[in-house]
Amino acid sequence: MLLARIDRRHQLKWSLMAICVALEVSNPAFALDPASIARSGNGDAATACSSCHGDHGEGLPDNGFPRLAGLDSRYLRTQLEAFASGSRANEIMHPIAKALSSDERQSLASYYSGLIAPKAPQQAVDDDKLIADGKSIALDGIWNKGLPGCSQCHAKLGLGVGASFPRLAGQSSTYIGNSLAAWKDGSRGNDPLSLMAGIASKLDQSQIDAVAAYYGSLPVDQPEGKTP
Ligand code: HEC
Ligand code: HEC
Repeated sequence: MLLARIDRRHQLKWSLMAICVALEVSNPAFALDPASIARSGNGDAATACSSCHGDHGEGLPDNGFPRLAGLDSRYLRTQLEAFASGSRANEIMHPIAKALSSDERQSLASYYSGLIAPKAPQQAVDDDKLIADGKSIALDGIWNKGLPGCSQCHAKLGLGVGASFPRLAGQSSTYIGNSLAAWKDGSRGNDPLSLMAGIASKLDQSQIDAVAAYYGSLPVDQPEGKTP
């Protein structure tokens, strides 16, 4: 009698464990770690991040695919939420971010934030005057347009400050130019207090080209993180 009860309890325990294992296998939020989503996708519309953002999150400058390695994890997570909701409108990232669960967005943000990667090669902008004009906007702003220097918020050498002011060093001139254009045309509309929308609206195309060329010319200076 006693033995039969212990047996039944064992059976129950094993059945519960089997159900848990089955749930983990059928639910990608449990089964997939961020490195494998980055490499191979999540089996849904979120295709392999590495095909566009590089094996180590270094980005693909010529296509305007941004660097993710070493960016603040809260910033990355906020951007994934914004792509999913459409407040940052982008045809490529919208379906991908929407197909990620909330846990996957968080774990991918932490994963990329912890990666160290050298700067992805981009054909250097061969125009010293353009870069010098960009440097002057970045450091001193354009006071007669009421534009503060970018470094007031993004720190010296574009190293960024915390979750709110992302690192620009390491991004390509193509991506920086695209982002400023996206704020100007309203497709990127999720920035806090519309700070960047206000700034981009004051830049004309030649000033965008200059400041993008300057930031694109800066080296990446990584804080400690983990080697991929
Ligand atoms: C087919 C190419 C492609 C794939 C695959 C892709 N991305 Fe992107 N991603 C982009 C592009 C293009 C942008 C820039 C969009 C823009 O200009 O607003 C971007 C931007 C981002 C940003 C914003 C970066 C920043 O500095 O603001 C994050 C975060 C991001 N992607 C994460 C991911 C993750 C995580 C995956 C995999 C689940 C992924 N991406 C897969 C093309 C891709
Ligand atoms: C008053 C503060 C402030 C100033 C000045 C400022 N920015 Fe920003 N910038 C921000 C904030 C906040 C964000 C993050 C927006 C978001 O979360 O969507 C940002 C984001 C960016 C991004 C997006 C980076 C990425 O990874 O997608 C670029 C590019 C950028 N700024 C360029 C510039 C340039 C160029 C200047 C100078 C002309 C400048 N910023 C001046 C506050 C500022």
